[in-house]
Amino acid sequence: MQTKETFETYEAITIEEAGNALNHAVAQIRNNISEFYDSFPTASSRNQIYSASENNDWTNGFWTGQLWLAYEHTKEAAFKEAALYQVQSFRNRLIKRIVVDHHDMGFLYTPSCVAAYKLTGDRPARETALMAADNLMGRFQDKGEFFQAWGRLGDPEEYRLIIDCLLNMPLLFWASEETKDSKYRETALRHIRTCMKYIVREDSSTYHTYYFDLETGNPVGGATAQGHRDGSIWARGQAWGIYGSAIAYKYCPDPMYIESFRKITTCFLEHLPGDLVPYWDFDFTDGSIEPRDSSSGAIAACGMLEMAKYLEPEEAKDILQHAKRLLKALTRHCLYRSGDNTNGILLHSTYAKSSPYNSVKDSGVDECTLWGDYFYTEALVRLTQKWKVYW
Ligand code: GLY
Repeated sequence: MQTKETFETYEAITIEEAGNALNHAVAQIRNNISEFYDSFPTASSRNQIYSASENNDWTNGFWTGQLWLAYEHTKEAAFKEAALYQVQSFRNRLIKRIVVDHHDMGFLYTPSCVAAYKLTGDRPARETALMAADNLMGRFQDKGEFFQAWGRLGDPEEYRLIIDCLLNMPLLFWASEETKDSKYRETALRHIRTCMKYIVREDSSTYHTYYFDLETGNPVGGATAQGHRDGSIWARGQAWGIYGSAIAYKYCPDPMYIESFRKITTCFLEHLPGDLVPYWDFDFTDGSIEPRDSSSGAIAACGMLEMAKYLEPEEAKDILQHAKRLLKALTRHCLYRSGDNTNGILLHSTYAKSSPYNSVKDSGVDECTLWGDYFYTEALVRLTQKWKVYW
């Protein structure tokens, strides 16, 4: 468990170190282009190796997003060509309705198609991302006022929101900006207000998921899916909360989102182990042999780098330092090394870990994850250049 004092003695990454780490990350993305041109890396690696898969998971956008980040860093045409080529795959996926009956339209379409449009003005990318926004809108539940994450719409067993969905909201804010139709933005704000109201607990930790009553829309209670237990702090959920509140503030500068950001971030930092690489769930800390989830550190760092833009200078400086400490720790302990037998970037991430109190199976435990690689690279791009946010 960290105190403010122990945390603040940890070194921050320098801009030069961030630049070197970014070059190293981009070298791996370059290595991967030919294998994952017509295909996508799996959500997580197996023995540190991603294999080729179809565009049918919630994670595919993170590969295209890595290509865009690499393009922004290098301006090499090969990255741009590969990323633009994949737009068609995302379009087909929506048209053929391949695993799109869930809320993860933002994770899929923001770093792929919205990024493509923002960076190149590609019209098919714009149209595809707008289709994805419309698809997401279909999952809004008036009773309870939230986007139902998974399952058949209106299934009482699945009548819940999940904290991860905060990162699906930028697709809707973008859609309102593009179409001048405020319905996307208004619906996103209704969801965010509901989420923040119920998912953040009294002690500033967060639930992974929160159920509502199908008939009345009344709040029922929090539960976990991927965390260790219902009342524990799933590290990645807490990190989605950090980045999600920063993004909420970006689009709607209401001080309540700064307050949520402060609470969720403080709780996250307090629960880090000494080496600052989060355990997959904060039921575990120094001395535990449970695996880590490095991706949570990367997501949290991106959220802090985003929020630092909006805070008063003194607080912004502190938050920036916190993000740099997390990135130093990830670079020191988790960045792949030349000669490692891996095609991933960030080691020691955990997709899902089973416990006696959750219902998930072990998947991608202590492996690379596509979003871990993406958010680590995004954080380094944020630190080393002026970056126009995809989210
Ligand atoms: N959004 C799914 C996850 O974080 O595993």
